[in-house]
Amino acid sequence: MSVSIIILAAGEGTRMKSATPKVLHQISGKEMLFHTIDAAKEISDDIVVVLSYEYERVKKAVESEYDGIRFHRQNRQKYPGTGGAVMGIEPKYDKVVILNGDMPLVLPGSIQRLIEAEGEIAMSILKLNNPSGYGRVVVDNGVKAIIEEKDCTKEQLDISEVNAGVYAVSKELLYKYIPRLNNNNAQREYYLTDIIEMAVKDGVMVSGVVVPQEEFMGVNSKSDLAKAEEIMQQRIKNRWMLEGVIMHLPDTIYIDCKASFEGECELYSGVVITGDTKISTSTIYSHSVIEYSSISQSNIGPMAHIRPNSIVTNSKIGNFTELKNSTVIDTSAGHLSYLGDCEVGSGTNIGAGTITCNYDGKAKHRTKIGKNVFIGSDTQLVAPVEIADDTIIGAGSTITKDVPKGALALSRVPMRIIKGYFYKFFQKSK
Ligand code: UD1
Ligand code: MG
Repeated sequence: MSVSIIILAAGEGTRMKSATPKVLHQISGKEMLFHTIDAAKEISDDIVVVLSYEYERVKKAVESEYDGIRFHRQNRQKYPGTGGAVMGIEPKYDKVVILNGDMPLVLPGSIQRLIEAEGEIAMSILKLNNPSGYGRVVVDNGVKAIIEEKDCTKEQLDISEVNAGVYAVSKELLYKYIPRLNNNNAQREYYLTDIIEMAVKDGVMVSGVVVPQEEFMGVNSKSDLAKAEEIMQQRIKNRWMLEGVIMHLPDTIYIDCKASFEGECELYSGVVITGDTKISTSTIYSHSVIEYSSISQSNIGPMAHIRPNSIVTNSKIGNFTELKNSTVIDTSAGHLSYLGDCEVGSGTNIGAGTITCNYDGKAKHRTKIGKNVFIGSDTQLVAPVEIADDTIIGAGSTITKDVPKGALALSRVPMRIIKGYFYKFFQKSK
């Protein structure tokens, strides 16, 4: 499609009160700016991101995720403001859409409606009960001008139609008016919004498109960030429920935007799924956390923790069991275990309280557990160590050497019975 998209992301975002640039804050596991880029990519193959504050850091972050995005460095000392941001860009196509990098909820359909609106300029309008913080749109038989809040008269402050900050405009008009902008205003900035009044004065038709507030909310503070994430979560969960995932008390469940489900899955309350986790035909019980892992044909939790890079197939991982960087097939690890940097073969039972001692204080080591292994409760497996197929480990053992196929390994101190010791120790009579 022949539309260029400019994403404004050069602002400092001081209201975020953060060392992280505003547009790199994450919403449901993805940077705010990346959500906007994703929407833009649905519409255009010519995307320009305008940066200034932390230019290198933001550019690097974008480049690590996307190819073919262009960057424009705004000279904010000389030309501050949204008008300054678009100066000197050369869009590839005749039509230009301007988006904001801090509007992560905008969907391609709404951008499309602006593109298809009548007239050479289309601007997005929100109707708000409380318009404070936004530029007011002067409407009088059509859009006439946008007045920034700090420049408004008392009467103008009462206008409830505000500028949502997204525009579709012909390249020709945009770059006809941009050089004419000035900074004679309360903020001493070059306002992109001033092009509206200039165009109207020249008889250009400007159409105002009323857009959904939920999509066009800007994120300026961490409070806004939380609100945006809530909306994003609703979208993500709704999508997966429509795909067949059962969710109990979905408001308490968190799902990363990169996570995916297959087959029939069921999630109980309080489940947290992060990263590009894939879950297929499995049940995740309450308050389990699954990070960057792959789960299929399994039951997890309640209160299990599956840490990154784990693959769980046809297994039962029970309460208070933690996995990390481990591959587990046809296995039951029902209670209170830590399986880190390990491999477990099929038909194996991991007794309650089994711990892989994977870290010796300097390096991480692997534990290999074969097929049909019965590991008794409260076993420590000191890695690197290998437990061959068809073996039994006695409860309470500390395994420091490889166990050969078919063997029983036991490191328990023999139990002793000392008759009558209690009465002797406490000097009590029977
Ligand atoms: C802007 C609009 C206002 C509108 C509001 C909607 C102008 C002058 N005002 O105001 O009418 O109601 O958005 O949210 O456009 N940016 C740059 N370079 C800059 C300044 C800003 O790239 O020099 C970027 C920011 O990173 C941000 C976007 O432009 O993504 C909007 O900037 P912001 O400062 O939030 O604009 P507002 O003052 O809110
Ligand atoms: Mg501002």
